[in-house]
Amino acid sequence: MTVVVAADIHGSASWTRRLLEACEAEHASQLLLLGDLLYHGPRNPLPEGYDPKETAMLLNSFAERIIAVRGNCDAEVDSLMLRFPLVESAMLFMDGLRFFCTHGHRSDLSDPSLPMGYDVLLSGHTHLYAGEKREGRYFFNPGSVSLPKGGNAHSYLVYRDHVCTIKDFSHAVLYSALAEKAGQPIDILEEEPVRA
Ligand SMILES: [Fe+2]
Repeated sequence: MTVVVAADIHGSASWTRRLLEACEAEHASQLLLLGDLLYHGPRNPLPEGYDPKETAMLLNSFAERIIAVRGNCDAEVDSLMLRFPLVESAMLFMDGLRFFCTHGHRSDLSDPSLPMGYDVLLSGHTHLYAGEKREGRYFFNPGSVSLPKGGNAHSYLVYRDHVCTIKDFSHAVLYSALAEKAGQPIDILEEEPVRA
């Protein structure tokens, strides 16, 4: 099973097109969206190709493959534009692993309110791609599709056969690690040098 995980599109139709092309290139059976889909948000600049209506139409064309959690910029009216539900959080079961999926504005790895029964936390919100392990649990952030911060590339994550790989849109690998049951040591497969 191959799942593309993406976050923080913020209404960019042009980057949504590139994301859907990446899903096809990766042969993804599912697209997991970690929130902040249509609205740019008052703290952000307008992303390239900003067109929330067109973004909604593009995502709706992919609706049967989408699982989506709500971000802090996703309002009730945004949900009315989408042909798939926006849930507060989701637990996905893949290859014997439990992935807890959330936007991340209310919780991070150190949040004691997170459910205990997961192996991997997937969240967005920071617009910074990340992979790390803390207290025996794995955490991955795919970065932002349209508005990356910190000089990072526009990015997404691919999950396939226990491996989480964060890529830029030329499909170059930014970070790759083996995701295992909670409590196992993290096995980093590939990593870009840390950026200043
Ligand atoms: Fe965001």
